[in-house]
Amino acid sequence: MWQGSFQRRKTAIGRVAGKKAFITGGAQGLGACFARMLADEGARLAVTDINVEGAEETAAAVNEKHKNAALAIKHDVTDKEQWKNALGAAADFMGGIDILINNAGIGTFGNIEAASYENWRRTQEVNVDSIFIGTQLAMPYLKDNQPASIINISSVAGLIADGMMLSYNAAKAAVWMMSKSIALHCAKSGYDIRCNSVHPVFARTSIIDPLIRFAGGGEEGEKKLTRHIPMGRLAEPEDVGYCVLYLASDESRFVTASEFKIDGGITAQ
Ligand SMILES: NC(=O)c1ccc[n+]([C@@H]2O[C@H](COP(=O)([O-])OP(=O)(O)OC[C@H]3O[C@@H](n4cnc5c(N)ncnc54)[C@H](O)[C@@H]3O)[C@@H](O)[C@H]2O)c1
Repeated sequence: MWQGSFQRRKTAIGRVAGKKAFITGGAQGLGACFARMLADEGARLAVTDINVEGAEETAAAVNEKHKNAALAIKHDVTDKEQWKNALGAAADFMGGIDILINNAGIGTFGNIEAASYENWRRTQEVNVDSIFIGTQLAMPYLKDNQPASIINISSVAGLIADGMMLSYNAAKAAVWMMSKSIALHCAKSGYDIRCNSVHPVFARTSIIDPLIRFAGGGEEGEKKLTRHIPMGRLAEPEDVGYCVLYLASDESRFVTASEFKIDGGITAQ
């Protein structure tokens, strides 16, 4: 039986005060939103992206509010050497790493008859292989900074399929199961390192622009895209960010190997 006691906070400290987060794909969209929300709750951050100018913009916006809280790093998540350098630079800057957010990803389309092998390979490389490479290299840092949390951004597309999303469905389903395997390994090894996956439905970032265009564009396109979502709208980045914030904080200290659907009810149907 768990015999600890919850300490009520007496001062207004942040939910992730003192945490040291490494966020991939932080130049824009969901990753940039996670960076802002975690920094507002007291974390320090390494914001990495293949688009280094974007990562620098995210870090600058954070640092304007929270002095020296964020560092931008150029980082292609498909490249093992860049992972080593980025993790090393981040740990030097923050004094360790205890939150790893594997967020960088690409959206790709094509059915089994039309999708090229290159489309398939690139989708797996950026969305799946990157998490294998990066999490393996991050493990020593996380072990040195327990309790730690790995947060893998999957998608509802990892749980329900679409005929036009062959490569993306397969990639995001792989992220879902990888997360459970990592979680079980850590728990059974006695590490206080949690690992969970987050599954957003369409969220308002540029990754869905082609889908909105395909659905007719503008408000009409957005309406068509969201018509199967019971709550009838896109996810806002913050809707996903609050889940990430919970998983990054010690509030989720007994939560591992779980999947979190931020989907307005779509997967219940
Ligand atoms: N927005 C959605 O509707 C939605 C829904 C479900 C899941 N997701 C997932 O959320 C994550 C973030 O997506 P987003 O919506 O913010 O999209 P986005 O396109 O706005 O951001 C993705 C970021 O990843 C970066 N990136 C791409 N390839 C990279 C690489 N090789 N190395 C490093 N960085 C790279 C991009 O430069 C970009 O900054 C992705 O994994 C995506 O699959 C998004």
